[in-house]
Amino acid sequence: MVLFGTDLPLPLFCRGKVRDTYDLGDKLLIVATDRISAFDVVLPCAIPTKGLVLNQISAFWFEKTSHLIPNHLIKVVNEVSGLSQCLSPDAVPDYILGRSMIVKKAQRIPVECVVRGYLSGSAWAEYKEKGTISGRSVPKGLKESEELPMPLFAPTTKAETGHDQPLTKRDLEELVGKTLAQRLEQASLTIYNYARSYAQKRGIIIADTKFEFGTVDNQLILIDELLTPDSSRFWDASQYTVGQSQPSFDKQPVRDWLTASGWNKEPPAPELPPEIVKETSERYQEAYRRLTGKELKLVSG
Ligand SMILES: Nc1ncnc2c1ncn2[C@@H]1O[C@H](COP(=O)(O)OP(=O)(O)OP(=O)(O)O)[C@@H](O)[C@H]1O
Ligand SMILES: [Mg+2]
Repeated sequence: MVLFGTDLPLPLFCRGKVRDTYDLGDKLLIVATDRISAFDVVLPCAIPTKGLVLNQISAFWFEKTSHLIPNHLIKVVNEVSGLSQCLSPDAVPDYILGRSMIVKKAQRIPVECVVRGYLSGSAWAEYKEKGTISGRSVPKGLKESEELPMPLFAPTTKAETGHDQPLTKRDLEELVGKTLAQRLEQASLTIYNYARSYAQKRGIIIADTKFEFGTVDNQLILIDELLTPDSSRFWDASQYTVGQSQPSFDKQPVRDWLTASGWNKEPPAPELPPEIVKETSERYQEAYRRLTGKELKLVSG
């Protein structure tokens, strides 16, 4: 089945572009739908299995990185009984299974902890113009998509509306204090370095990514989603070529089709043709397969 939206009899915590999150008191239920966004606009059609892939990839990384830093994952909801604390069995729709997780509700730190390993996107645009990345100095003469000499921590604000703004080191220290600023940087770089070398061996370049952190009982933990194709730039290592923009591992067919359609990138976006939907769904599944070495378990529903 394809899941565009959810309507559970629970208080809504937040509806994002892709995920619907419900409030369970001291916990949250995060449901990854099949919605997809491109050029910052949610498309009117969903990508089958995308939510399942996103949820399973996040869960995979939370488990894999838990020796580096604790995180919010309590459990992935794979069975109806997994929600017995908050919903009667007949109120649990099949679509929840495999696509959702119960997490600890944290006190959120209002920073997007971006790490960049390669020069791409808005960082490339800034570098071309000013020779910096998020205001930080980097060596001269780098080419588009080139690997940076060292991964760069480039945090931004978490804007409620409009675009996230880059934070300098000093801005971050003013916002969260010096000690926490250092811990966010160190934790972000540690997780990124670990994940990127793991993914590289499986044919995926994680060019950049974004982490979110929070605190529970004064302990710093990783929250939100983790190292998914939605929170990161995934490139196919076998197609990587310096000096040009790289195709996105997952969304490239969608971006190419939308660009060719002449759409002005203002909502509403056009419907994607079925073959583009199918190809994109297969790409998300391929990302899951490569990273985890497993076939995606399709949950019936
Ligand atoms: N364990 C947690 N405790 C508290 N808040 C959390 C936790 N995990 C995630 N969040 C927050 O829940 C929200 C999830 O929102 P979601 O990512 O779906 O949408 P968004 O960030 O508002 O928009 P977008 O779809 O553009 O990402 C975020 O604000 C995130 O910081
Ligand atoms: Mg978000």
